Amino acid sequence: MAKLIDGKMISQQIKDELKEKVAALKETGKEIGMAVIQVGNDPASSVYVGNKKKACEYIGIRSESYELPEETTQDELLSLIEKLNADEKIHGILVQLPVPKHIDEDTIIKAISPKKDVDGFHPQSVGALSIGQPGFVSCTPAGVIQLLKRTGIEIEGKECVVIGRSNIVGKPMSLLLLRENGTVTITHSKTKDLKEVCKRADILVVAIGRPKMIDASYVKEGAVVIDVGIHRDENNKLCGDVDFDSVEPIASSITPVPGGVGPMTIAMLMYNCVEAATMFD
Ligand code: GUN
Repeated sequence: MAKLIDGKMISQQIKDELKEKVAALKETGKEIGMAVIQVGNDPASSVYVGNKKKACEYIGIRSESYELPEETTQDELLSLIEKLNADEKIHGILVQLPVPKHIDEDTIIKAISPKKDVDGFHPQSVGALSIGQPGFVSCTPAGVIQLLKRTGIEIEGKECVVIGRSNIVGKPMSLLLLRENGTVTITHSKTKDLKEVCKRADILVVAIGRPKMIDASYVKEGAVVIDVGIHRDENNKLCGDVDFDSVEPIASSITPVPGGVGPMTIAMLMYNCVEAATMFD
């Protein structure tokens, strides 16, 4: 029986710590502002954006919401970002991804000032992480590190295997585990003998994007298993990239879906926003 890593509880802890910090900053006359931009009305994006705005409200961060029509041009979006980059009342800028096809995602990410890049997607933020300099870290992998640390799971010296090499999760996840002195292997869809490599892991982070792909045959007895995936299964129930029922009996600790990694992303976004307001002002 694995110990469940409770992301709901840990994310709440982080949000409560931030709420206190934001209240103390308010006492000194400082208010934190975040701009949340959505282009088009993809329903999943609307849910994420709504949750981000709710979290801001809970913590005491003023959020400015920009709900732009699908037809918004790249230049219009770039002018808005430019205006927000120059706005002293705005400390964090978030453009919800994906953006419509006629807008180039990389151009948008690069347009956001690295000082306000609370998603941690700007090449400067990614570069800073890779050479161990201060900068914003992508929220989901940062959340995974918090889950491990706050559950008392040691990373130093451990065999850490990351499945997935995306810019948002897999790559920054690997760099963060390395920064914590883990011995890190990055695997992906072309990895040979994936099962054998995964079975080496003391800490297995799964971000492959395939429902329930990782079953007990990929997992060493006693491993810590972190599931970054979120999908709907054949019964319309939420599930992860890990086959929970198969893996849970042999893991030492495991994140559930929902209630594991998911809630951490927004908590870390809020953390980055508070950092943005305190680091650069
Ligand atoms: N779309 C899916 N995840 C994310 C995220 O973490 N940030 C942004 N901006 N868009 C996303």
